[in-house]
Parts: sequence; C-alpha cells; structure tokens
Amino acid sequence: MADKEGLKTAKDYGLDTPFQAQGDFHVKGANNLDWGMKKHLSNIFDAKTGKTVMFAFDHGYFMGSTAGLERLDIVIPPLADYVDVWMATRGALRSCIPPSAKNGVALRVTSGSSMLDDDLSHETVAVDIEDAIRMNADCMAVQTFIGADGQLSSLENLSRVINAGLRYSIPTLGVVAVGKDMERTDRFFKLATRILAEMGAQIVKSYYCDHFDEVVAACPVPIVVAGGKKLSEEDALTLAYNSIQGGAAGVDMGRNIFQSEHPVEMAQAVRKVVHEGFTDKEAYQFYQDLIH
Ligand code: R5P
Repeated sequence: MADKEGLKTAKDYGLDTPFQAQGDFHVKGANNLDWGMKKHLSNIFDAKTGKTVMFAFDHGYFMGSTAGLERLDIVIPPLADYVDVWMATRGALRSCIPPSAKNGVALRVTSGSSMLDDDLSHETVAVDIEDAIRMNADCMAVQTFIGADGQLSSLENLSRVINAGLRYSIPTLGVVAVGKDMERTDRFFKLATRILAEMGAQIVKSYYCDHFDEVVAACPVPIVVAGGKKLSEEDALTLAYNSIQGGAAGVDMGRNIFQSEHPVEMAQAVRKVVHEGFTDKEAYQFYQDLIH
C-alpha cells in the first residue's frame, strides 16, 4: 500500500477531455463488458440519452413505513410510465409491483439496520444471487459506508455481490452512504465513488456536491445522483439539473418524487431534465402547467 505521507492532492481532472474509453456503448466504463451486462445496463440507461431516471422507494428496508410510502400498492404503479428503473426491495416488488411493468429493476440486496439503531452502518448481504436472477434484476444495490464504523463489512458485502454479479452478468450498484458525522465534500465523494468503481461496481450512486464535475471525471463508471431529503419541487429540479450539467448519468430520486403533492407530475418534470435537456426553470414551468 502506498505511503499516505507522500501523497499529493489530486487536481488534474482533464475536464475538457471526454472519457477516452467510451467506445461505442452508451454506458461509461462498460464498453469492455459482455453482452449480458450490457443488456442489463441498457435496461437502466436509455440508449439514446445515456441517462436514467431511477425511482427509489426502498426506504422501508430500514425506515419501515415512510411518509409518502404508506401504501406502495397505491403510490408506485402510477409512476411506471415516467421512471426508467424501480430501486426497491424484493418484498416491495413481489408484493406490490406488477411484473408486466417495463421498468428496469435496481434490487436492494443489503440490509440489517433500522432507524432504531444509533449506528446505521452495519449491513449484510440479504439476497442471494439466485433470487436476484429470479427477480430479473438489472443491478444489485449495495450500501457502503466509507469512513464509517461499518466500512470493512460494507466493502466485503460489495465485493461478494460484485463477484456473484460477474458470474451471472448482473451489474452492481455501489451506493455511497453519508454518515451523520461526515461532511458532504467533494474530497469525500471523490474518495468514496472512486473506491467503489475500482472495486468493480458498474454503477455508483452518490450525492451532488461542489466540484461535482471533478467527482464525475475521476469516476470511470456512471454516477447517478441521490435525491436526498425533501426539497421544494423547484429546488429538487435544480438539483437534478445541476447534477446532469455536472455529468451525472441520471438521478435516483425517492422522497422528492413520492413526497411531492404531485408525484406523477414531478416524475415527468424530472424526466424532462434528465432526458430532454430542459433547464430547471423550464422543467418547473412544465410541472406548474401540469398541476394547474
Ligand atoms: C438509499 O440508501 C435509500 O434507501 C434511498 O434509496 C435513497 O436515499 C434515495 O432516496 P431519496 O431520494 O429519498 O434520498
């Protein structure tokens, strides 16, 4: 391992130079993967735009019944036409989501903590690869806790899932969690996203931050940006817009869609930003026009 003392601060991100290993496949870092992996990635990232609108409603895996998600069977199905991917637990999918829906599936495969814990950073792999295959998962989502108490076990979980995914050509989505004592700095996100990519995650989910374009440039696989706590619709669309402008390959939004007073209209507005090049202002106007 390199001596930490002598390390220089990374600074040359070549922001004017496009990703050099893109090849002719539309997903960053995936050109050398096999057909099965590419097929799953194409179920996540639109082949025309290279981007995705993931909709996260996996919160129940540690939060139980969450505001806006009290009735999955009522709230989720109407969103099917407006989001590309369900990010969810197998329990939610099997019990409430029609398998006839065309959406891709980002299957949450780790769990083990609950809101009652002081430290949420200890999880285990709770879903066998065989069940991910049965669910036709397009990727498997693993929570990681870089710099937190659960770092080692979460990276072990990530490795196990990536190894299993590589055996059956199912991508792994490495999720960067931010602990309550951790700063949301670009320094942290550059560290965490790059670690997950170098471990072999084919997709990384992280947060928007200052110098986000540098975080993206230094990560050789697509980053999808988490929505985070509920913002006003206008601010959430600005978050989506800034993320896409900074090079994100999409968003993975939960509360900013399902806690909106108008989830279906909000999903449509987010879609305009991610896939159709709308500015945040244009998308907010579109949202206003839909709800009035
Ligand atoms: C991730 O760890 C959570 O379970 C959610 O998937 C994630 O936080 C995205 O949802 P939200 O946009 O509500 O933060």
